[in-house]
Amino acid sequence: PAPGWELTADVCVVGSGVAGLCVALHARAAGLSVAVVTKVEVDDGSTRWAQGGIAAVLSATDTPAAHARDTEVAGVGLCDADAVQALVTEGPDRLHQLITWGAAFDRDGDGRLLLTREGGHSTDRIVHAGGDATGAEVQRALRDAVAADPGVTLVEHAMVLDVVRDTAGRVAGVTLHVLGEGSADGVGAVRARAVVLATGGMGQVYAATTNPAVSTGDGVALGLRAGAVATDLEFVQFHPTALYLGPGARGQQPLVSEALRGEGAVLRDGAGERFMVGTHELAELAPRDVVAKAITRVQLRDVVDHVWLDAREVPGLAERFPTIVARCREAGIDPVTELVPVTPAAHYASGGLATDLSGRTTVPGLYACGEVACTGVHGANRLASNSLLEGLVFAGRIGEALARELPVPAPAEAVDPRPESLVDAEARAELTTTMSARVGALRSGTGLTEAAGRLAALGERTTAVPGVPGWETTDLLTVATAITAAAAAREETRGCHWREDHPDAVDGWRVHLDVRLDAAGEV
Ligand code: SIN
Repeated sequence: PAPGWELTADVCVVGSGVAGLCVALHARAAGLSVAVVTKVEVDDGSTRWAQGGIAAVLSATDTPAAHARDTEVAGVGLCDADAVQALVTEGPDRLHQLITWGAAFDRDGDGRLLLTREGGHSTDRIVHAGGDATGAEVQRALRDAVAADPGVTLVEHAMVLDVVRDTAGRVAGVTLHVLGEGSADGVGAVRARAVVLATGGMGQVYAATTNPAVSTGDGVALGLRAGAVATDLEFVQFHPTALYLGPGARGQQPLVSEALRGEGAVLRDGAGERFMVGTHELAELAPRDVVAKAITRVQLRDVVDHVWLDAREVPGLAERFPTIVARCREAGIDPVTELVPVTPAAHYASGGLATDLSGRTTVPGLYACGEVACTGVHGANRLASNSLLEGLVFAGRIGEALARELPVPAPAEAVDPRPESLVDAEARAELTTTMSARVGALRSGTGLTEAAGRLAALGERTTAVPGVPGWETTDLLTVATAITAAAAAREETRGCHWREDHPDAVDGWRVHLDVRLDAAGEV
């Protein structure tokens, strides 16, 4: 789009992964027109990187109660029981709906869906596609389904900035930084009767993450600027096994799926010992936070940057996990015959914008779906492969809510194209280094105070130059400051929030921490 460009639709969906595209399809089924706006290109979000799969109760020996129990054990006392109930009971139908939209999952010779296991699951319930390319298949199917529907307008290269409100104060659209011809970037807008944020996660707030480059927390930052409440932000999940590419690796790191451990791969320290045996009854298949902590402890004990994943005994490794094997081989490691160096990396925001069970944030007209949201299903630590599922289930619920409750908007405010004062993109490297060093997998009160001071200083480094780098850095600083404040406030260890100065879970801390911005825009 060109600067000054405006579009009108019933629903504006921001983001084009599983959550955004499913909301778009549900809204269309309700007869609504939809604009999907996305920061770069339609496939550039996290969904296509998902490997392991989608958790859903599909086998005769599994039950929704067992899936709920596993989800709640992983969430360490902070899951919302009603949200979990919706997730586990509605999941199988939403998965079948995804199949009718065109997604093809791996099946046995009799056509039954193949199921595998991941950390924290008490049984095999993970559906997968292309072995370890589940997200790529989900993204392909949804992208094709949306492209086939003329009622959806897809707008790429449009970064969401802020909400537009109608005169009644309800959200009635968004402003966007759009890339124009040549260097003539500017502000555009979508006017809509509701806005659904489906912008994904914020892993890029850390120096090393499994998340793609677009995951800069834009939705949470926008929501906070709009006055929404964010909750559980301190619960940043570190995936135990990102491929270790050498010291100083930055940005997106290759994921080595938990499903490998589900199929028999084991973790070893430098001496070849299986350190997860004796650490947890499920050994390598313990919940993700337990495995990530154990790896971090071994790395600190042995003063090393990684441990080893031994997948040599996994049957048919190269056929079952083609993406991972190819990526490892690209890095010069053959997992069929060699140990794979792995280390934890920032992976998933269990918290986000607080929503009710229909995806409504605390701001009228503003909804959130997928990783940007905190529906309450993940608590203090998301169970593996519950995230694509959450997108499917809550997109359906949002679609139903939109069909019921869209008002005719009052006249909306004019779009103000003035550039804001943004945080200079030059501050980004120090920001991510600070977050990894002080607000990462292992935290302390002193480190968190130091991080808060450094982030405040980075906020002084402003630029008047409008553009995606400045907006992304501004969003990253907002979410970094919010995560740090929540992590400093929570003086206990729970789920993926690990404090060396408060090493135990404390009953009194079975509460959620809400974050808001005040009138001055401070956390
Ligand atoms: C994985 O395949 O290990 C990632 C699954 C997830 O994050 O849910």
